[in-house]
Amino acid sequence: MKLGRELVSADAIQRRVREMAAEISRDYARVDQPLILLPVLKGSVCFATDLSRHLEVPVNFDYVAVSSYGSGTESSGHVQLLKDLTMDVAGRDVLMVEDIIDTGLTTAFLFEHVQRHRPASLKLSVLLNKEERRIKPVPIAYKGFDIPNQFVVGYGLDYNELYRNLTAVHVLEP
Ligand code: IMP
Ligand code: MG
Repeated sequence: MKLGRELVSADAIQRRVREMAAEISRDYARVDQPLILLPVLKGSVCFATDLSRHLEVPVNFDYVAVSSYGSGTESSGHVQLLKDLTMDVAGRDVLMVEDIIDTGLTTAFLFEHVQRHRPASLKLSVLLNKEERRIKPVPIAYKGFDIPNQFVVGYGLDYNELYRNLTAVHVLEP
């Protein structure tokens, strides 16, 4: 597999991230405790970091990590929690931050997991959405881009742990 053409440019990502941050800042302007940003490791780190720097509301960070068993370009659907919440999210406003939603299995699992801790609200922001691949529906509150059914890397997303540091999103090619 090798790095293919650019699908979403660094400029387009930065522009969209600023728009999303403005929308999120408006929606959470009136909450009395800091919004808890909950990036899903590791892929969401670039997106969550950039997004947070444009937010105009107070935030806390917590992180969760999952493995979906299996490498390469197919997720297996068996989701395992590798790192749990460390903050008490009960009664708090939580915004999960995802890099990409493909089948939806990972996000649906995490969403249900966080919901069990009784947050005041739980919403989902995602940079990239592959709608065509959805198996399990997930409620996306803030969406960056719809993309076609292709395996992509960059801006946090990896192929066998490579390419996470790219500033743009690229297609991976055989
Ligand atoms: P889902 O459970 O199928 O929605 O996808 C779960 C995870 O698979 C995502 O959080 C990513 O870590 C990974 N994934 C899915 N599609 C891609 C892709 O195109 N590039 C890199 N990782 C991906
Ligand atoms: Mg991920």
